[in-house]
Amino acid sequence: MLSWLPENASNLASGVDNVLLFVTVLSVFFFLLISAFLIGFAIKYRRKTEHDETPYITGNELIEVIWTVIPSVLLIFIFAWGYIEYREMRTPPDNAVEVNVVARQWLWQFDYYNGKKTINELYVQQGRPVRMVMRSEDVLHSFFVPDFRVKQDILPGNYTQLWFTPTKAGTFELFCAEYCGTSHSQMLAKVHVLGPEAYAIWEKGIGIDEGTSVASTLPPAEQGAELYTNRGCNACHSIDGTALIGPTFKGLFGITEKMTNGKTITVDENYLRESILQPQALIVEGYQPVMPAFEGILSDEEVTALIEYIKTLK
Ligand code: CUA
Repeated sequence: MLSWLPENASNLASGVDNVLLFVTVLSVFFFLLISAFLIGFAIKYRRKTEHDETPYITGNELIEVIWTVIPSVLLIFIFAWGYIEYREMRTPPDNAVEVNVVARQWLWQFDYYNGKKTINELYVQQGRPVRMVMRSEDVLHSFFVPDFRVKQDILPGNYTQLWFTPTKAGTFELFCAEYCGTSHSQMLAKVHVLGPEAYAIWEKGIGIDEGTSVASTLPPAEQGAELYTNRGCNACHSIDGTALIGPTFKGLFGITEKMTNGKTITVDENYLRESILQPQALIVEGYQPVMPAFEGILSDEEVTALIEYIKTLK
C-alpha cells in the first residue's frame, strides 16, 4: 500500500502497516497542532512592554478534561487495535506447516517435516501458512523478514515461534536482527516463496532446489564460490587471509596444519571433505570446535564444488 515500506508479501503485512500508518498520521497531526499552538501563543503572549505583568491563571477545567480524555481514548484505541493485530500474529492456525529453524553463529538452518534440510535458504509455499519453531545453538539471534512484517528473537535453551502466510511468489530477504557477534551482518538468508506446483516439485525433492540447481550449471569452482556465500561459510572463513572464527580459505589447500590432538595434517581433498561434513573430527590448533556439521545438508557435488573453490584461493 505504501511505497516507502518494504514489499507487502504476507497475510500479516497490511495489518501492521495500517496500525503504523494510523500512529504515524496521528503523531504528525498532533505534532503540527501542538507546534502551531506553541508558536501562536509565543507570539500572542510575548512581552510587549517593559512593564507587562504575567496573569495569574489557576486552571481551566474544560481544557484539562479535553486534553486528558481525547488522548486517553486515542491511546486505548491504539492499544486495542495493536492487540488485535498482535494476537493474530501470535496465533498460528492449526493447519500451518512446521519448519524447524536453528540459528547459530552465523547461519540459518531449516529442517522440514519431510526430512529436507537447507542452509540459508528457506522454502515455503505461497498461500499456505507456515510456522517457524526456532531455537539457537549459541547466543541471541532474531528472525526478521521485513517483507512479511515478522520478527522474533531466538534464544538458546528455549523455543520461540512465529507464523505467516506468504502471499506473493518470489525471493525475500531474511535478516538476523539481533547483534550476535563478529559476522552478525553476514547472517542473511533468502526466503523462497514457491507457487503450489513449484513447491510440490521441491517437496518431492525433484530439482527446484534453486540454490543448487542454478549453481550446478556452473563450473565447480564457480558453484563453490556461490555456496561459500549462500551457505554461510563466509561468516567464519575469510578468503583474504584474515583469521576469523575459523581458518582462512586463502592459501589453505596443500598446507600443513597442526591439529589440537597433536597430529599434523596436510590439507587435501579428503581432509576438506571431512572438515565440512564432520567438522568436529579434527580441529586446527588455536580454533574452537564450533562449526556445525554439514552432513546431510550439502550434497557430494556441493562439497566438491567448495573444495574446488578453496583450491583457487591461492
Ligand atoms: Cu545472528 Cu545477529
